[in-house]
Amino acid sequence: MKKYKLAASILILVIIAAIGAVAIPNPLGAQILAEVKYRGYLAYTTDEAVTLAYTRCTTCHPADKMLKYCSRCGPPFVVVTHSMKKYTELMNQKGGNFKPFSDAEAVAITQAWNGLVGNWEPDWGSKDLNKLLQGDQALIRLANTPVNERPIEWALKTKQAPGAMKEDRKIIP
Ligand code: HEC
Repeated sequence: MKKYKLAASILILVIIAAIGAVAIPNPLGAQILAEVKYRGYLAYTTDEAVTLAYTRCTTCHPADKMLKYCSRCGPPFVVVTHSMKKYTELMNQKGGNFKPFSDAEAVAITQAWNGLVGNWEPDWGSKDLNKLLQGDQALIRLANTPVNERPIEWALKTKQAPGAMKEDRKIIP
């Protein structure tokens, strides 16, 4: 019974969001739609992912941290996102007030930085990556998805963020 209720309310939320997005472009509709996407019921578009990456990742440090990040600097963005997600949770446990990164956001944001700054996952074995991702299922799934099956990252493959020196690996499996 409870399960059914949850599924029904999710369905209603999605329907309201879809109607809201198409028919009534008002702030409430946008807010509901944002929540539906935050929870991963609807996918972020590429533009939304880029906006998220620039807004959500710049609450503690400027975008330069991402733009200047490189393969010599450390592990690929999928690991960075995982660490930042963990760090944000830690800060909140210590009394901080950051909106936690959802799985859907982490997956979208990782693809955005991969597409705009670079992806050097191939330099790291997938075993190493899985270990560094410490059981973060959403990001492990992303790391094990071929790049041409990651819609946001694939859409950005010829793009580059201003201020970044994009590192282009032969990332097509
Ligand atoms: C709650 C605060 C916070 C948020 C939110 C945050 N970061 Fe960070 N980030 C830090 C801190 C603290 C450091 C390490 C200290 C420093 O270098 O300023 C850091 C460092 C980094 C570095 C440099 C790491 C290195 O090894 O040089 C990168 C890249 C980075 N963050 C990317 C991101 C990305 C991508 C996001 C969004 C998913 C993000 N950050 C969100 C706090 C945050």
